[in-house]
Amino acid sequence: MKVLVAGANGHTGRLLIQYLKDDGHEPYAMIRKEEQKPEMEKLGGIPVVADLEGDLGHAVRGMDVVMFAAGSGSKTGSDKTTDVDRDGAINLIKATEKSGTKKFIMLGSFGAGRDLGEPEEGQEAMHHYIKMKKEADEYLMGTELDYTIVRPGGLTHDESTSKIKVGETVERGSIPRADVAKTMIAAIQEPNAYHKAFEMISGDVQIEDALKSL
Ligand SMILES: NC(=O)c1ccc[n+]([C@@H]2O[C@H](COP(=O)([O-])OP(=O)(O)OC[C@H]3O[C@@H](n4cnc5c(N)ncnc54)[C@H](OP(=O)(O)O)[C@@H]3O)[C@@H](O)[C@H]2O)c1
Repeated sequence: MKVLVAGANGHTGRLLIQYLKDDGHEPYAMIRKEEQKPEMEKLGGIPVVADLEGDLGHAVRGMDVVMFAAGSGSKTGSDKTTDVDRDGAINLIKATEKSGTKKFIMLGSFGAGRDLGEPEEGQEAMHHYIKMKKEADEYLMGTELDYTIVRPGGLTHDESTSKIKVGETVERGSIPRADVAKTMIAAIQEPNAYHKAFEMISGDVQIEDALKSL
């Protein structure tokens, strides 16, 4: 399938491109800069230059699946969290709806499905980030798209175990980016993962079985 990955130059995005290619999909790598093209091609992706804060019509056209794996990161301020993690995501969802593509897979945030309450002292930036992720998820859940929202715990660079724990909520924990990428790809082929949002950490259930259990 033709799969667009927004945030393809990121840590999880690069894994998505490689694994999609390995699985026989046609991965389209959405990047912001021309100079990132050769690296994306090396990973097996077809580069598409687009910015989540700009026009995305050309990027989503003809795709079977759209994945959001982008993020403003911790080095920018809360204004960019709003612009990219919420508004950029919603911009991509709207472009997907317009294009007629049905399947949207969101790399969300742990805790974004919970009641957030007020920020604790010193946690204002994290609270704002999760609130923005929550609002983007809520927009997606209000569409007609076949969405899957994965909400992983702390992301690591550890090797994949392909074993996870999923649930509407799970205890805090961590998970390799590699297993998050594999789960997002497995969700394409698992109808039971459609119209679902779930938290995820490393566990002892094979990814495919975990998605069937949702
Ligand atoms: N860190 C955690 O423990 C954790 C836990 C749960 C969920 N998450 C979520 O997972 C996401 C992915 O994590 P990661 O470590 O793989 O991310 P990452 O390496 O920081 O990559 C994020 C990517 O988003 C791209 N991006 C930023 N602004 C953009 C824009 N306006 N338009 C298009 N692309 C844009 C960046 O592009 P450039 O390469 O051009 O800068 C970058 O490639 C995070 O952003 C976060 O929301 C993280």
